[in-house]
Amino acid sequence: MLRYVRWFAWGGVAVLGFLVLATMGGWLFTDGPLGPARVMSGPASLAIGGPFSLTDHRGLAVTERDFRGRPMAVFFGFTYCPDVCPTTLTEMTGFIEALGPDADRIQWVFVSVDAERDTPQAMAAYLEAFDRRIIGLTGTEEQIASAARGFRVFYRRVPLEGGGYTMDHSASTFLLDAEGRFAGTLDYKESERVALEKLRMLVGRG
Ligand code: NI
Repeated sequence: MLRYVRWFAWGGVAVLGFLVLATMGGWLFTDGPLGPARVMSGPASLAIGGPFSLTDHRGLAVTERDFRGRPMAVFFGFTYCPDVCPTTLTEMTGFIEALGPDADRIQWVFVSVDAERDTPQAMAAYLEAFDRRIIGLTGTEEQIASAARGFRVFYRRVPLEGGGYTMDHSASTFLLDAEGRFAGTLDYKESERVALEKLRMLVGRG
């Protein structure tokens, strides 16, 4: 009889342990930096965006409050990017031209993830190659990390062979409505037709 009592006791401990681990595992999964469960779920994804404090390419300090009142299209990258960023900013320039006057109803924003090299001056020089309405934002490492967390953007510094470094970063453009609420994304190399549909929806002309 005593043997059965012990068996039940150890069984109970095992079940309890399993439940604790499963709960912790679930917590880690959904609260991780890229928690797929969160990004995919509806209501939680509304939290994308959030407060930030950065410096624009003219050297002016800005926060998310300076952008309220008009929708935003926000892309994170860096000026030394060999591929994704110039492609995305070229596409963004194309969307701005295709939208005509509606383009002025959106704030087009390029946020650097490379605090070390992307000074406001470097951002200004880089953005001359694209539509002049695109606003460059940069900041200290902490300011950039905080802004990226708000948008759930992933990035990391990758050392290059022979010195120097590049940055890995996620490639979506985030759409926010005039109140700063998450309103969708443009995927990297999204078809122009789909992208323009999303952007017209964003300005209420869809
Ligand atoms: Ni890039």
